[in-house]
Amino acid sequence: MPRPDPCRAVIFDLDGVLTDTAHLHFLAWRALAESLGLPFDEAFNERLKGVDRMGSLALILAQDPARRWTETERLALATRKNAHYQRLLGGLGPGDLLPGAAEALTTCRAAGKRIALASVSHNAPTVLQRLGITDHFDHVVDARTLHRSKPDPEIFLRAAAALGVPPAECIGVEDAQAGIDAIKAAGMYAVGLGRAGALRGADEVLATLRGFEPSEGAHLAPAHSPSGPGMRKVAPA
Ligand code: BG6
Ligand code: MG
Repeated sequence: MPRPDPCRAVIFDLDGVLTDTAHLHFLAWRALAESLGLPFDEAFNERLKGVDRMGSLALILAQDPARRWTETERLALATRKNAHYQRLLGGLGPGDLLPGAAEALTTCRAAGKRIALASVSHNAPTVLQRLGITDHFDHVVDARTLHRSKPDPEIFLRAAAALGVPPAECIGVEDAQAGIDAIKAAGMYAVGLGRAGALRGADEVLATLRGFEPSEGAHLAPAHSPSGPGMRKVAPA
């Protein structure tokens, strides 16, 4: 699929795209899983990326189907994980933006694109504030009002509607498989961030946001180009 022409909006995920909070979620989930005697590693964590808090917990608990949990117990576990996660967020600041993230936001703005955040995290507004990038967004989808988590397209469709831009004229940027699936189900162009071949269905996969350019052509600059150091376009899986 070619880049949208025109491209009028760029919709970013947060955790793992603009900052490495994906790792903090991993640490907090692993601590919870281990305290329950349940296995947890990086590979399992990939399945949780982009999935909301209760959905992630359900996947972890499902590893031991013989054990039953009441809704009250599940809520208590989710609250415990979130408290741990929020403690880990304590030291977060502008220096924790991932390479190229700040530049990507200013490049999109300078190119006249509308910008939205599509994160299912209830902590997203706090994270944006700590990173000092709240004002870069024309719209931040309120995760508390979502009916369905990624891979459902709801969050990306809501972002596009709030920006007043048709999905076909939007680029979505994601680090998680559930997020790529959500972008594609929304009918948008999907930019994946991560290892080549790791994100099925992405229209392109970049190693980082360094040199990210929302308009067609510029992103094709080779990794060694002076205009795009560090930016690597790799073949979609
Ligand atoms: C997503 C993360 O952005 O937010 C998930 O990829 C996380 O790992 C989800 O579980 C929900 O976050 P929170 O902050 O509402 O618990
Ligand atoms: Mg993410």
